[in-house]
Amino acid sequence: MTILVTGGAGFIGANFVLDWLAQSDESVINLDKLTYAGNLETLASLQGSARHVFVQGDIGDADLVASLLAQHRPRAVLNFAAESHVDRSIHSPEDFIQTNIVGTFRLLEAVRAYWGNLESAAKTAFRLLHVSTDEVYGSLSASDPAFTETHRYEPNSPYSASKAASDHLVRAYHHTYGLPILTTNCSNNYGPYHFPEKLIPLMIVNALAGKALPVYGDGLQVRDWLYVKDHCSAIRRVLDAGKPGEVYNVGGWNEKPNIDIVHTVCALLDEMRPKADGASYSTQITSVKDRPGHDRRYAIDASKIERELGWKPAETFDSGIRKTVQWYLANPEWVAHVQSGAYREWVQTQYAVA
Ligand code: NAD
Ligand code: TYD
Repeated sequence: MTILVTGGAGFIGANFVLDWLAQSDESVINLDKLTYAGNLETLASLQGSARHVFVQGDIGDADLVASLLAQHRPRAVLNFAAESHVDRSIHSPEDFIQTNIVGTFRLLEAVRAYWGNLESAAKTAFRLLHVSTDEVYGSLSASDPAFTETHRYEPNSPYSASKAASDHLVRAYHHTYGLPILTTNCSNNYGPYHFPEKLIPLMIVNALAGKALPVYGDGLQVRDWLYVKDHCSAIRRVLDAGKPGEVYNVGGWNEKPNIDIVHTVCALLDEMRPKADGASYSTQITSVKDRPGHDRRYAIDASKIERELGWKPAETFDSGIRKTVQWYLANPEWVAHVQSGAYREWVQTQYAVA
């Protein structure tokens, strides 16, 4: 049996592929365009594995997706591929529209054609799992209840609007064509192999480099944080037991203001890698101009996935952030190659690309 994962060289997709291959006998076909966010060095431990087939390509390339489906006959497709960084979406939204909306549409069309021709048992068992975000629900005030699956969509950034559009397309393909689709809307992830443009890895690498730790605005924006391995276990659970057509919110029950996150990272670094002069890394915190349209608060109500599928996160924020800081300290080469751009050569120099 095989699954097709898209975006499996990115942060969450790669963590998912590594966990999947460690925990199951099934193979993975990994389709990734290798944008700046795709990093095959993350998957270096899979070199030579017959159960991992990497294909460099675009989810929007209908012919490629159709031929991969025909050749490998996956029992499920998991769509992680996306442009994912809010700040980039504010500066240049075009790629977000192309990949998150048009790409998802083309993927849906290719999967619909493949699924339509499956024989009855395979057709019933097939799943398309679409990985989405809590940002589609918009921003909460301090006293609002957390997002449930029925919260209205109110996306505020080009990123979240493009993800919302993809969620709507996915929903429509279930409703109209009966495609057996599962959607997960997850809160902010953190953990190993996170590209240092996002808050937590950026703070770790900047702190260690003696650089400023830029906190947008007053730093009191709140996010819910989930350790990436917990997101991967939630996706596996939804794939196994989720009901087609349903949406599952995934979160860590860990709402934190950004400034607290940055102080926690600094405190862990003070403990694990104290500065020679004895000063705290927190002296590097700098307030910078706020992000335009910055959402104030996200919070996930993850009761449905717990109640219906028995999933709960394994990590607390304290255990997950400690593991994360330890991972970055133990993997300076991965960080250095991301910073130098050398990771982009990995595909040519180290890896056999199908
Ligand atoms: P990422 O930016 O780290 O990785 C995205 C991957 O998709 C990269 O490997 C990139 O090369 C690939 N990709 C981009 N465009 C592609 C295309 N057209 N065709 C094929 N591959 C393409 O993102 P991530 O943080 O791993 O997020 C994965 C998914 O999870 C996204 O759909 C994102 O919206 C969602 N999500 C992320 C978070 C988070 O906190 N990071 C939270 C909730 C949901
Ligand atoms: P980010 O990791 O970009 O995720 P998202 O915008 O998808 O939630 O940012 C998390 C929070 O941290 C968000 O409120 C913006 C803030 N932030 C900073 O304050 N400074 C930074 O340098 C970055 C990248 C983010």
